Amino acid sequence: MAEKASVGSGRQARLQPELFSTGLGVLMATLGSAVGLGNIWKFPYLTGKNGGAAFLIVYLACTVLVGFPIMVAEQMLGRKGRADAVTTFRKISPRTAWWLIGAMGVLAAFVIMAYYTEVAGWVFAYVVKSFSHGLVTTDAAVTNAAFNQLVASPWLSLVVQWVVLLLVGLIIVLGVTKGIEATTKRLLPILAGLLVIIGIRSLTLPGAAKGLEFLFKPDFSALTAQAVMTALGLAFFKLSIGMGAMLTYGSYYSEDQNIPANAARVVGADLLVSLLAGVAIFPAVFAFGLQPAAGAQLLFITIPTVFASMPFGQVFMVLFFLLTSFAAIGAMLSLIEVVVAFLVNQGLSRKLSTLITVVAMALVGSLAALSNSVLANVKVFGLTFFDLFDYVSSNLLLPIGGLLIAVFVAWVWGWPKFQAALSNGDTLANAGLLRVIFTILKFVTPLLVLLILLTGLNIIKFG
Ligand code: PHE
Repeated sequence: MAEKASVGSGRQARLQPELFSTGLGVLMATLGSAVGLGNIWKFPYLTGKNGGAAFLIVYLACTVLVGFPIMVAEQMLGRKGRADAVTTFRKISPRTAWWLIGAMGVLAAFVIMAYYTEVAGWVFAYVVKSFSHGLVTTDAAVTNAAFNQLVASPWLSLVVQWVVLLLVGLIIVLGVTKGIEATTKRLLPILAGLLVIIGIRSLTLPGAAKGLEFLFKPDFSALTAQAVMTALGLAFFKLSIGMGAMLTYGSYYSEDQNIPANAARVVGADLLVSLLAGVAIFPAVFAFGLQPAAGAQLLFITIPTVFASMPFGQVFMVLFFLLTSFAAIGAMLSLIEVVVAFLVNQGLSRKLSTLITVVAMALVGSLAALSNSVLANVKVFGLTFFDLFDYVSSNLLLPIGGLLIAVFVAWVWGWPKFQAALSNGDTLANAGLLRVIFTILKFVTPLLVLLILLTGLNIIKFG
């Protein structure tokens, strides 16, 4: 095609990306990117820390008004450009600076992976730990100690991170269909089923009702501008938007894929998995007198208590952490793919690109891995590297990236091209829906993101 030839015919083979093979594969790979530690680890702990239901409602609003439209826009751009995030903007808008959005996405991939691989490493370690009886207990002091022992060991922290990176690297080398698509397709339904089982057990514990109240009965008086910014950041993070991951996956979509419908399913299913995780965790938190605001270790101290109080708990616990690690892998595949796709388009082989990316990520990641041990006292802006990477990616890089994508698509790219691209050249009768999405993307999304960022960062103040 003319577009590809203009980049240089010698690299044509590489620039012709492999596509996801089926509609179900598209849905599952995209969902595999969205569903991850964001749902099972971050969503519960942030909801716990920020007061529960009111936070959840703000998060929902961000998902509908910001998350969904940006996801659609990103996937559309990727399918148009048929390339990585940087190259796509270069092709679609040559001789402008919009490619910087893609470059920021590549940077975000590193920053996120730096701490994400560490948390995934904890999950891997918990798979192994679950085999020993010691962890299956309702005694919070014991589960706390087990967690602290893990994160305080520098070597263990590094090794689990390397294992994670090695595994993800191997799957990425296998490629889009055999690696990404095949892995995610099988595992997600099992994870959801397991969460339902854990949820039922958690809900039937004595005192569980308090957990539900916490999760679903809002108290807006406790909501701060900071918490609203956190909810926005969580929406970006959980939906994998604002950094080119959805754009890169969009470049593997076929031309007849119904992007808005697929995105709606992904957003809905992602939300469902988060709520299931919340229902699995919070009733248990209250039933066993644990702290909902425990922070990053919440998952690792509450989940063992739920399992300790059910028959065959240990078996279920092994399964739970195993499936969580698979969910994390699905998400990491899309994070790494942003960088690998970029390097492949620079002319490197897929293998070499993966190797470079994984090694670089291990180096940056060690700063986060050691944040609870040897680097615990090294603080930047008062945050450890682990917290800094988390804060900068979710609260700055992703929202700013998303804001720019919304502005680019709605104000620069414009309605006629948007409509043509997302109706698949008028073969889908979805003009009304597209109008709504476009209008939100043009006015509501950018304003909301800007407002939340400026208040969250204390740049503007109300009242
Ligand atoms: N959405 C993933 C999760 O919830 C994390 C992620 C963020 C993946 C950004 C890709 C891009 O775990």
